[in-house]
Amino acid sequence: MAKRHMKENKRPYIILSAAMTIDGKIATRMGDPELSDEDDWKTVHKLRTEVDAIMVGKGTILNDNPKLHIKYYDHDGYYRIVADSNLSISLDSKVIRFKPDIYPTCILATENANERRIKQFEDKNVKVIKAGNGKRVNLYEAILKLYDIGIHSILLEGGGTLNWSMFKHNLVDEIRLTIAPWVIGGSNSPTLVDGIGFEKMRMGLRYKLSNLKQRNNYVILNYYRGDANER
Ligand SMILES: NC(=O)c1ccc[n+]([C@@H]2O[C@H](COP(=O)([O-])OP(=O)(O)OC[C@H]3O[C@@H](n4cnc5c(N)ncnc54)[C@H](OP(=O)(O)O)[C@@H]3O)[C@@H](O)[C@H]2O)c1
Repeated sequence: MAKRHMKENKRPYIILSAAMTIDGKIATRMGDPELSDEDDWKTVHKLRTEVDAIMVGKGTILNDNPKLHIKYYDHDGYYRIVADSNLSISLDSKVIRFKPDIYPTCILATENANERRIKQFEDKNVKVIKAGNGKRVNLYEAILKLYDIGIHSILLEGGGTLNWSMFKHNLVDEIRLTIAPWVIGGSNSPTLVDGIGFEKMRMGLRYKLSNLKQRNNYVILNYYRGDANER
């Protein structure tokens, strides 16, 4: 499906991967994201072996400081992509310092990003891709630029703010979701998709359930975009 999609669309195939609680949160209000168990991490790392890049938002880097690497499998690596309009993440972030030869990092910024800051990132061998003149990265334009440098499949790993922007632009082709057996509440806890949201149900994006698995108290759901009008 991914190959056919790329031929037809000339943009990367994008799979959203996330773990959320029963009540739809992806971290607690204090930013604790530890929802997955070891088996779930193994599945996520397996998925990482199948794509050209992993993509996250700046908020996830600031909160979790992830390496975005592969732990359980042998692999030649992939790009790590961070949406960070003004290049404000630390140059000491693990996503920049950890194994850049295996996992090169690419920052998506706006055209207005500071040139001196860009140079600081480039000096660390980080590729900076500029897209859009607005306050935030124009993700549609950025995604097309990523395709042009050979990134044809992306695992989108959140968080909720970036996820919303990706859905808003109808850029998510597949969803792989783990429902973890907790309820944590909190109107300030990040959810799977935050942002302003669609006004009406008819504006929402419909997905088709393609697989459903149960493991202990966890449920793993796979959805794909399919035909938007089909109920
Ligand atoms: N459970 C899970 O599977 C999972 C996975 C990932 C993250 N998380 C959790 O999610 C939380 C972080 O989520 P978050 O919503 O705060 O942050 P986020 O989605 O990771 O990052 C959002 C930031 O990305 C930047 N960005 C650049 N261009 C953008 C665009 N066009 N649209 C949207 N954002 C853009 C923005 O900062 P600028 O405006 O400065 O560019 C924005 O504030 C953390 O608590 C983390 O632990 C959980």
